[in-house]
Amino acid sequence: MEKKFYITTPIYYPSGKFHIGTAYCEVLTDAIRRYKQLRGYDTYMLTGLDEHGQKIQTVAEKRGLTPKQHVDEMADSAKKLWKLMDIGYDKFIRTTDEYHCNAVQKIVQKFIDNGDIYKGKYEGWYCMPCENYFTESQLVDGKCPDCGREVVKMSEDAYFFNMKKYEQWIKDFYAEHPDFIVPESRKTEIFKNFIEPGLEDLCISRNTFDWGIPMPNDPEHVLYVWLDALTNYITALGYAGDDDTLFNKYWPADLHVVGKEIIRFHGIYWPIFLHALGLELPKQIYAHSWIVMKDGKMSKSVGNVIYPEVLIDRYGLDATKYYLLRLMSFAQDSMFTPEDFVDRFNYDLANDLGNLLSRTIGMINKYFDGVIPTEINVRTDFDDSLEKTIKEQIAKVEQCMDTYHVSNALVELWAIIARANKYVDETEPWKLAKSDEEEDIEKLKSVMYHLAETLRKIAILVAPFMPEKSDEILKQLNLSTANKNWNLVYSYNEIPENTRVIEKGEPLFARLDRDEEIEYIKSNMK
Ligand code: MSP
Repeated sequence: MEKKFYITTPIYYPSGKFHIGTAYCEVLTDAIRRYKQLRGYDTYMLTGLDEHGQKIQTVAEKRGLTPKQHVDEMADSAKKLWKLMDIGYDKFIRTTDEYHCNAVQKIVQKFIDNGDIYKGKYEGWYCMPCENYFTESQLVDGKCPDCGREVVKMSEDAYFFNMKKYEQWIKDFYAEHPDFIVPESRKTEIFKNFIEPGLEDLCISRNTFDWGIPMPNDPEHVLYVWLDALTNYITALGYAGDDDTLFNKYWPADLHVVGKEIIRFHGIYWPIFLHALGLELPKQIYAHSWIVMKDGKMSKSVGNVIYPEVLIDRYGLDATKYYLLRLMSFAQDSMFTPEDFVDRFNYDLANDLGNLLSRTIGMINKYFDGVIPTEINVRTDFDDSLEKTIKEQIAKVEQCMDTYHVSNALVELWAIIARANKYVDETEPWKLAKSDEEEDIEKLKSVMYHLAETLRKIAILVAPFMPEKSDEILKQLNLSTANKNWNLVYSYNEIPENTRVIEKGEPLFARLDRDEEIEYIKSNMK
C-alpha cells in the first residue's frame, strides 16, 4: 500500500489581511508536505477559512457588507495569496460551504443522540476577539489568558458538550500517547491549565447572533465556532457527506499544524469529539510558536505588521519562505527584524548558496569547457571528508524533518553548503588548473565532479523549502528536474556523461545593500 500523509493547517479567520504569521503557518505546512511528497508519500494538504462567528459578522457590518459578501471576498484574496506563494494545497475548505454545514449538523445530531449535549445556562467571562469563554480562575490579571485583552461577563441560554464525561478517557489517552502533541511544553501547559484542574463542559452554541450553523434541534441557536471549525478536518474529506472516499483514504490525519494559542482546542476538545464519534484520532499535533516583532505582537495599531507580499515582491518567493522557515524555532517565539532578514539573505542565500553555485558553474566552464567531468580516477582525503560530512548531514536533515524541526533542518542543510565552500578553499582548484601534472588535472576533475554532485544533492534537499531555486540550480547544471527525487540524494554518479552546464548563470540571489533594504522593510511595516 502506498504511504499516505494527510496534513492540515488551521482554518484562518477571514477578519483581515494575512500577515507573515499566518503565511508562516501555511509555508511550514507546505514545506512538510513537499518533503513527505519527495520521500514518496501520497500527500493530501488541507487549508481554508473559518468563516462563521460574531467577530466576522461584526467586521462585515463595519464594512457595510453582508457576512457572506465579506467572506467571499476574503476567500478570494486568501486563495490569491496562497497561489502567489505557490502553496500546493489539495483542498480549500470554507466553513460556509454547504457540504460542511450539512455534515456539521449531522455530527451534532449524532452527539445529541449519544447524550453528549445538554441545554443549560452559560455564565462566564467572554473574550470577544477570541470568541471564547473563560472561568474566573482561567483569567490572567482579569484578562483573556490567550490574547490578554479585556473580557466581559456574559450569561445566555446555551447548549453544552459534556466534556467531563470524557475526562478520564483523555487522561488515559495521553498516558498512552505521550507524543500526541509536540513540543512537549505545549502539552504540559494544557494539562496544567485545563485537564488537571478538571475539565469544564464546553459551551457549543450561541443565540445572541445568527452568523453560524443552526443547531439541528433548535435553530434559534447557532453553533459556537470551535465545533464548526474543528470538524473541518473530517468534513473536507467527505465525512458525513455524499462521498467519503477521501475520508476512507486519508483519515486519520498524520499531522495537524496549529499555532500555540489554539492547542487547547486541538489537544482536548478535538480528540474528545472524535472519540465521541467513534473515529480514529490524528497521529500528531504540532503547535508552533509565534513570529513576534521588537515591540511585541504584530498589530495594526502599533504599525509593525509585515505582509508577505512586501517581502515576496522585492526579495522573491523562495527567499521569503527560506527566511520564515529558518527564523522560527521549534518551540519558542522568534523575532522578525529587518536586519536579520537582510543579513540572512546576504549570508545564507547570496554568499553561501549563491556563490557555491556560481563559482562551480564558472570553474566548470573555465577548466572543462562547461562539461561536468564524470570519469574520476583519483580520490583525495578532501573528497572522503566532503562525502562523509554530506552523508551525515543528510541524515540529520531527515531526522529534523521527520520530527518537524524545520528550522533545524535548514541549519543542518546549510552545513553541507558551508562544507562544500570549504572544500573549494581546501582543494584550491585554481592552483590545480595551473599545474602540468597529470595527477593534478585528475584531481581537478574530481573537485568539479564533487561540487556538481553536491549541488545536485542540494537542489533536492532545498526543494521542500525553495522549490523555484531548486529548479534553477538543476537548470544551471543542465540536469533534469526528474532529479528531484529523495532516492537520489545519497547516491553519486547520477550526472550523465557530457552534461554541459549553463555558460553564464544568473546569480541565484543578488546581494542586497544592507542599509537600503533595512530601510525599505521598515518603511513597509504597516
Ligand atoms: N480559526 C481559528 C483556527 C481554527 S482551526 C480549526 C484561528 N484562526 S486565526 O486566524 O486566528 O489564526 C490562525 C493561525 O495563525 C493560528 O494557528 C495562529 O497561531 C497563527 N498565527 C497568527 N499570528 C501568528 C504569528 N504572529 N506567528 C505565527 N503564527 C501566527 O485561530
